[in-house]
Amino acid sequence: MKNAFFLMISAWMLTVSAQSPLLSVYNRETFSLNGKWNYIVDQYETGFYAYHGTRYDELENPGNGAIFLDKKPQNKSELIEYDFDLSPTLMVPGDWNTQDPKLFLYEGSIWYRRVFDYAKKNHGNRVFIHFGAVNYEADVYLNGKKLGRHTGGFTPFSFEVTALLKEKGNSLVVKVNDTRKHDAVPTENFDWMNYGGITRDVQLVELPSTFIADYSVQLVKGSLSMIKGFVRLNGSGKQQKITVELPEIKLKQQINTDENGYAEFALEAKKLTLWSPENPKLYDVIISCETDRITDRIGFRSIEVSGSEILLNKKPVFLRGICAHEENPLRGARAYSKEDARMLLTWARELNCNFMRLAHYPHNEYMARLADEMGILLWEEIPVYWTIDFTNETTYKNAENQLTELIGRDKNRASVIIWSVANETPVHESRTAFLTKLAQKARSLDDTRLVSAALEVSTPSDNPFLKRVHDPFAGVADIVSFNVYVGWYDGLPDKCDRILWDIPYEKPVIISEFGGGALQGLHGDTLTRWTEEFQEYLYRKNLAMLTRIPQLRGTNPWILCDFRSPKRLLPQVQDGWNRKGLIGQNGSRKKAFYVLREFYDKMSRGENIPN
Ligand code: GCU
Repeated sequence: MKNAFFLMISAWMLTVSAQSPLLSVYNRETFSLNGKWNYIVDQYETGFYAYHGTRYDELENPGNGAIFLDKKPQNKSELIEYDFDLSPTLMVPGDWNTQDPKLFLYEGSIWYRRVFDYAKKNHGNRVFIHFGAVNYEADVYLNGKKLGRHTGGFTPFSFEVTALLKEKGNSLVVKVNDTRKHDAVPTENFDWMNYGGITRDVQLVELPSTFIADYSVQLVKGSLSMIKGFVRLNGSGKQQKITVELPEIKLKQQINTDENGYAEFALEAKKLTLWSPENPKLYDVIISCETDRITDRIGFRSIEVSGSEILLNKKPVFLRGICAHEENPLRGARAYSKEDARMLLTWARELNCNFMRLAHYPHNEYMARLADEMGILLWEEIPVYWTIDFTNETTYKNAENQLTELIGRDKNRASVIIWSVANETPVHESRTAFLTKLAQKARSLDDTRLVSAALEVSTPSDNPFLKRVHDPFAGVADIVSFNVYVGWYDGLPDKCDRILWDIPYEKPVIISEFGGGALQGLHGDTLTRWTEEFQEYLYRKNLAMLTRIPQLRGTNPWILCDFRSPKRLLPQVQDGWNRKGLIGQNGSRKKAFYVLREFYDKMSRGENIPN
């Protein structure tokens, strides 16, 4: 009898632990679990492993050491060595590093716990818990039962909890571990703060028993009027009539999902106003079936390459870009809110940017949704950064999963035009195979956008002034992008005057990074490193150097604002901050900010454009 019961429970847990691909959460009515969560720092993972190393959550009876049970003593003799109710709290969303000085450099495991009540609106509905992101690995439990594990610090995931939810006193426990690991993505060495925690929104989403789980509505690649897409249902009522509607232009089509709940469609939209940075036109798109209805705001635009041109809606475009980390420098913390997104995008707009490189990992969903509204094109990237373990299949699967989750989340966002699969990875056979496979995966998931990666330049030993891009991945990418630091890591700014280029690809070239550091408010002459004058001079020299590249079709200086990095150690100048921002950590513009803005102002008037 006992075994039969165990088998039933195990089978049931398999169903509750399945991670359902819940998308478009921001187009749904949700119940927020943001706010104060109790937390327990568990440096030795005492609440996860018994003393001989057995994982509590793999035991039929985990016992009192298992923190995810969130137990209280039932009598005065019972031994329990933790108590969430007596523990401090952290704000969710948010990194833990900047919420308590004791946690600033902490790396390891922290248990979070939130208690909540929830009464379903409709008995037959299903309920999911959705996380915008957790850095880096999350083990999630509800009312003592394991929901599952998610690995990857920057993409959303969710679990169905319909069968486990109570009306009162639900205990949601998340073990977050942000320890850097060689086989992880990113690996253990990277130039940004390893912000740990539940760093983005947490929401409950109540949905009909059969709901619209996924959809794509985009222009066919190369067309300015043909819209194609798919709808996927989740639930028992898989075969339904689906209506796809753009009310503003009186476009409507009905399709039927198959036995798997899937249907494709295509419809001609002759009166479409195309989305562009100059006119970020969004349409209400309504997708409905007998049991569900969802409305999204979608822009329609075409992005292609032709020779060395990038064509937006069939017209050549130059990408006046800037790089950004997902950090609010005024708080010196992980950015996570719509207000943070608006601040960063507004700063880019002030530079007269029409483009941003969201480095080096997927940013929160507010960025692409707001960029859709503000008309800023985006480069989105997964953290395949520097010396990834390229020969490790598990590492590849992790990178591919993060790419899949990113594309799944943002595939309907007009602002997103480039998927980037790497940054500054060393050129060798296993790395190029790894990146090529990711590029193929991106194209299989989304054939409407462009694929690139931030490559590196090489300098022949016999000519320090010749910059070469000889990288096999440049032959795979749609756009040849690379980082170059002449005047900062490579000589002084006047070296720019003597640089020659060898970029043997008839493709568009984007500079994915260039720049140099300055401490905001430090002044001196143009040869004194760390002064604003040095950075300003470096920008003038670099911009003149870059416009000598005939295929140049985009520039992304590194970086919009100063950001925290434990790699930046110079006292009284860096103090744990990378100072290459055009805006300082207090929000003040440096002199180089105005050099770039003037350059982009002229470019938007048709000047400076390389021929
Ligand atoms: C590299 C890297 C960035 C880094 C920057 C720098 O190119 O891509 O992540 O922060 O250079 O050195 O500041």
